[in-house]
Amino acid sequence: MGVSIPQKTRYTLTTVLFIVLFVLSLFLFSRRTLEPSLSIYQQSFPLIKSQLRSSDPDPLNSSTNQSIPPSISQADELGPSSNGSSIDDQPSAHDEQNPPADNEAVVDNGEEKREMCDLYTGTWVKDEEYPVYKPGSCPYVDEAFDCQSNGRQDSDYLGWRWKPDGCDLPRFNATDLLERLRGKRLMLVGDSMNRNQFESMLCLLREGLTNKSKMYEIHGRKITKGRGYFVFKFEDYDCTVAFVRSHFLVKEGVRINGQGNSNPTLLIDRIDKSSGRWKRADILIFNTGHWWVHGKTARGKNYFKEGDYLYPKFDAVEAYRRALKTWAKWIDENVKPAKQLVFYRGYSSAHFRGGDWDSGGSCNGETEPILSGAFLETYPLKMKIVEEVIQEMKVPVILLNVTRLTNFRKDGHPSIFGKRLTEGKKVSTRRQDCSHWCVPGVPDTWNELIYATLFFNKQF
Ligand SMILES: *[C@@H]1O[C@H](CO)[C@@H](O)[C@H](O)[C@H]1NC(C)=O
Ligand SMILES: *[C@@H]1O[C@H](CO)[C@@H](O)[C@H](O)[C@H]1NC(C)=O
Ligand SMILES: *[C@@H]1O[C@H](CO)[C@@H](O)[C@H](O)[C@H]1NC(C)=O
Ligand SMILES: *[C@@H]1O[C@H](CO)[C@@H](O)[C@H](O)[C@H]1NC(C)=O
Ligand SMILES: *[C@@H]1O[C@H](CO)[C@@H](O)[C@H](O)[C@H]1NC(C)=O
Ligand SMILES: *[C@@H]1O[C@H](CO)[C@@H](O)[C@H](O)[C@H]1NC(C)=O
Repeated sequence: MGVSIPQKTRYTLTTVLFIVLFVLSLFLFSRRTLEPSLSIYQQSFPLIKSQLRSSDPDPLNSSTNQSIPPSISQADELGPSSNGSSIDDQPSAHDEQNPPADNEAVVDNGEEKREMCDLYTGTWVKDEEYPVYKPGSCPYVDEAFDCQSNGRQDSDYLGWRWKPDGCDLPRFNATDLLERLRGKRLMLVGDSMNRNQFESMLCLLREGLTNKSKMYEIHGRKITKGRGYFVFKFEDYDCTVAFVRSHFLVKEGVRINGQGNSNPTLLIDRIDKSSGRWKRADILIFNTGHWWVHGKTARGKNYFKEGDYLYPKFDAVEAYRRALKTWAKWIDENVKPAKQLVFYRGYSSAHFRGGDWDSGGSCNGETEPILSGAFLETYPLKMKIVEEVIQEMKVPVILLNVTRLTNFRKDGHPSIFGKRLTEGKKVSTRRQDCSHWCVPGVPDTWNELIYATLFFNKQF
């Protein structure tokens, strides 16, 4: 056992060396933090990095686009002379001590100090404090989503909270979200699924007001599906929350055919005419998706147009890709990432049994989420396209990756309760809505995920 002593010495030396190196690295990292302070906006970059960390084995290799999330490339492009140079483009010492799997909510000195994790891998758990607002209490829910008022009797579907596997979402705090939005303009742009989310956002924020009359639509408009533009002002916070309808994000047009009838077209290389409004927002939340599977769009006959050319027949998926690229180009050219924040909300799952939305598909009688089993084996092709397009953008776009979490929620749709019950009439089960969501309900979670993103981000 004569060798044991020198070996032990060697171990000790190694340990000492390690500690010295560690202290040195800590010193270097903390020097970074002492450098000119980060702008509030630039703190978004570490967040996006952590979202992508698992697929990004070498965040220090900036010679390739593949291994670097778009946001980081963007940061690099700001160059050493700009304020962007102080972005911490290396994993913090803290990150190194805690591999992603260990990211958990920690409560420190009574103050909430949480660590971000993958927010989209998780489960729905029962929570007695849900929903955040009572069904029927919020005047901004339009008839189509007002399930309880329309006669839906079961209420278990209201009591679920999304729980990521690796951490907890911060408890939704409406006052805090309003504070973060102070002086800002939040805008949702997209189809009726985004109107669904917009109404939920209004109702969630309303909970933070002591005087509920201190929010109003600036033109006095009531939310209906007929209108495509609403702006709500929160007086005490000098902020607005708006919805801009844009089914495809690219421009809809018409053409006069040989018989003199006008037919709709879609100009996939031109941005939607509502884009002028988008420029004015500080936080943008986009979506498009459901309209691409509707009749004329899906068939693609004499419908898609590029330049002056009207395609006699064109594949809707390829058209979707090109339209998203048109959108991406517009964002890259018009959004200032230092001042504006862009979200893209991913595809929200529909649950039609025995048919489709227009052929008798149903989801009535569902009262519980899917609680077990692997059910979303295939990630929708459209979402893969979204991810590809976002990856190539200069402006960082945060993906609200709700496809999977919505897929559990077959119980959350209006189904037959998308219409007011008329006295003495039986509810029709023929045309069911298994795409949109009851409010309160699942879209509240999407907004909580936005809140969580801002919260973890310390952004806004
Ligand atoms: C960075 O990535 C490129 C392309 O993947 C590779 O050729 C290069 O060796 C990498 N550099 C380092 C330092 O890992
Ligand atoms: C950082 O940005 C601010 C505001 O945009 C500007 O006033 C300041 O000069 C910039 N500082 C540097 C070092 O570029
Ligand atoms: C909610 O946020 C406000 C403003 O930041 C804060 O004063 C309040 O304590 C928070 N409420 C809870 C329950 O955390
Ligand atoms: C609530 O706000 C409205 C509109 O600003 C105002 O007319 C009303 O007096 C306020 N109510 C209370 C109790 O402060
Ligand atoms: C990186 O991305 C930019 C913008 O999308 C592109 O122009 C460039 O060719 C890419 N570079 C590499 C090495 O892939
Ligand atoms: C989004 O979630 C799906 C699972 O539904 C996953 O396969 C995909 O990688 C996620 N995308 C991102 C960018 O996290």
